[in-house]
Amino acid sequence: MGGSPSCEDARVTPADSALVRAARGLPVAHAPVWFMRQAGRSLPEYRAVREGVAMLESCRRPELVTEITLQPVRRHDVDAAIFFSDIVVPLQAVGVDLDIVPGVGPVVARPIRSRADLAQLRDLTAEDVPDITESVRAIVAELGARPLIGFAGAPFTLASYLVEGGPSKNHEHTKALMHGDPELWSDLCAQLAQISGAFLRIQVEAGASAIQLFDSWVGALPRRDYTRFVMEHSAAVLSGVADLDVPRIHFGVGTGELLDLMGAAGADVVGVDYRVSLTDALARLGGSYAVQGNLDPALLFAPWPVIEARVREIVEEGRAAPGHIVNLGHGVLPATDPDVLTRVVALVHEISAR
Ligand code: CP3
Repeated sequence: MGGSPSCEDARVTPADSALVRAARGLPVAHAPVWFMRQAGRSLPEYRAVREGVAMLESCRRPELVTEITLQPVRRHDVDAAIFFSDIVVPLQAVGVDLDIVPGVGPVVARPIRSRADLAQLRDLTAEDVPDITESVRAIVAELGARPLIGFAGAPFTLASYLVEGGPSKNHEHTKALMHGDPELWSDLCAQLAQISGAFLRIQVEAGASAIQLFDSWVGALPRRDYTRFVMEHSAAVLSGVADLDVPRIHFGVGTGELLDLMGAAGADVVGVDYRVSLTDALARLGGSYAVQGNLDPALLFAPWPVIEARVREIVEEGRAAPGHIVNLGHGVLPATDPDVLTRVVALVHEISAR
């Protein structure tokens, strides 16, 4: 083989990318890096194109979704794009009356708390979201060898929004339903698992090269409740896309006590938030999974030498993992200076080169 650089280039596909290889525990030329919420309010070009367009509407316009998804790739040279959408998009697509209120988050008109309320949900099919297929295809065509990460919300986190009616600190209605009516809870989560699984499949079939399941708020649960009420439903989502042969990233916030269970639910990569060091996370995971993380998003507001030192530590800790995808421990905060993100990407590429 050997050959000219152009032959070399022709062989590069998203499946050979640093992100996909690291997720599979294969050697990489440098550690891949991307940021949760890399597309969003930290970017002036995002604020400009979103002007006068509601969040959920922007998620359903393919030309806008394509532009917003590509903005951070152009600006930061991150190793992956994440599809611009929201975890509640598939819920709205099956008919749930909800909105995303700026500065608040998803708000549901009629919270789901009884068996009759379940009638708001049904199975999601590709016909419900033709715009999602169109958007993914357009993005993938622009990205070339760079992978697109598709995503969905996990059953617990979606259920929390539906049962509470909006964002919640304590998840009291959700926990009351889970423990008070386990059968209704299970039926709700099984329906949400179908919706999430279908949303992931639609993205992968349109060209996404990896998926991330966001169980953002499941860190609110003790292990026994996770195993009893949640794990089987997240496992159903992850096993439901196993045949698609793309790496599966499983992430939540404050999930230090659940990491091994989140891996065992069917992940290739376990997302680690900033509260647990990668070294501790790797010990808890027993060497079985690649990891993603875990720079504290708030640290991006510190002086550069502080950020640089922490990034170097994280890259160093990640070398002990079967694979490491560098990311934040949660999403980019809206007031973050985007130039700092660009600098972090360049630093990771430089210090992790082999
Ligand atoms: O760059 C990316 O990460 C891709 C885009 C993305 C968005 N939402 C866009 C968005 C992703 C992956 C999500 C998933 C999502 N949505 C999650 C899981 C990830 C996480 O942060 O834990 C959750 C919990 C939601 C629900 C949600 N949607 C919240 C809490 C908010 C923030 C509300 C606010 O205004 O602060 C949203 C709205 C939202 N989703 C925004 C973006 C860019 C902000 C809306 C805006 O720009 O006006």
